[in-house]
Amino acid sequence: MELPKNFLFELNNHIATVTLNRPKALNALNKDVMEELHDFFSNQLPQMGCKGVVLTGSGDRAFAAGADIKEFMTMDRIQMEAQSKLGHQLMFAIEKSPIPVVAAIEGYALGGGFELALACHLRVGSEKARMGNPEVNLGIIPGYGATQRLPQLVGRGRSLDIMMTARMIDANEALEWGLLNRIAPVGKTVSVAKEIITLIGTKGPMAITKVIETVDAYYDKNKDGFAEEVATFGSLSALDEFKEGTKAFVENRPVNFKNQDGI
Ligand code: CAA
Repeated sequence: MELPKNFLFELNNHIATVTLNRPKALNALNKDVMEELHDFFSNQLPQMGCKGVVLTGSGDRAFAAGADIKEFMTMDRIQMEAQSKLGHQLMFAIEKSPIPVVAAIEGYALGGGFELALACHLRVGSEKARMGNPEVNLGIIPGYGATQRLPQLVGRGRSLDIMMTARMIDANEALEWGLLNRIAPVGKTVSVAKEIITLIGTKGPMAITKVIETVDAYYDKNKDGFAEEVATFGSLSALDEFKEGTKAFVENRPVNFKNQDGI
C-alpha cells in the first residue's frame, strides 16, 4: 500500500492504526482527508487481511473537532451537499467494514468527528473525552450521518438533547448512554482499543463479519433482519469455521480457526 498523505498509518500484529494528523486544527476533517479515508476503507483495508482497525487522532486534545469549518466557509450550497454525500460515503464504508473498526477518542469528538466515531463499530473514550454535535451553533445541522446514527445508539430524546442544545457529553455520561463502550485512562485509548481487537481476533472471523452485517440489517429499511439472521445462521453452519469451533468445544481444546490471525 502507498503511504497515505493525509493521515498516519501503521500495521502491527495484524492491527491497523489510522491516525488523523492535523493536531493544530484539532484534527478537523477536510475534504482531502475524507477522500483518502474513503479510499482506504473501501478499497485498501479489505485486502489487508488484518484483524481490525483502530481509528484515532494525533495529539492529546482531540479525536476530531468536526468538519473543517474554515473549508466550509469557502463552499457554496452545491459543494456543501457534495461534502455531505462524501461524508455519508465515508461513514458507510466504515460502518460496513467486514472487520471491526474501533474509535479511540482522546479529548474532543465533535460534529463530523463525532459522526466519524459513531460510524465505528465500537468506541473507547478517555476519561477526558468530550462528545457532541455543536452544528446548530453554526446555524447548520449534522451532515455526516448523526441525525440517523445517533438515534440508533441513544434514542430520539437523547439525540435531540445533544443536537438541539449543542452541549458536550463527558465520558461518564457517554458510557451510561451507550455512546462509549469503554472508558480508558488518558493516553490509553489506543492500547485498550487494540486489546478489544485482539480479543475479537480470537473468534471466528467470518462470524464476526456476519455479526456486523446482520446487526446492521436491523437499521436497513430495505432488509428483513430476522430473515437475514436465519439465512446467515444456516450458511455459517456449513463453513469450516463452525466445524472447528464446535469440534474444539467437544474436544475441550483451544479453538484453531484457520485464519485466526486474520490472514
Ligand atoms: N474546523 C477548523 N478548525 C478548527 C475546528 C474545526 N472544526 N475546531 C478547531 N479548529 C482550530 C481552531 O480554529 C484553532 O485554530 P487556530 O489556532 O489557527 O486559531 C485550533 O483548531 C485550536 O482550536 P481552539 O483555539 O478553538 O481551541 P479551544 O481549546 O479554545 O476550543 C473547541 C476547542 C471547543 C473544540 C473549539 O475549537 C471548537 O468549538 N471547535 C469547533 C467545534 C465544532 O463546531 N465542530 C463542528 C463543525 S461543523 C460539522 O462538523 C458539520 C458536520 O456535521 C459535517
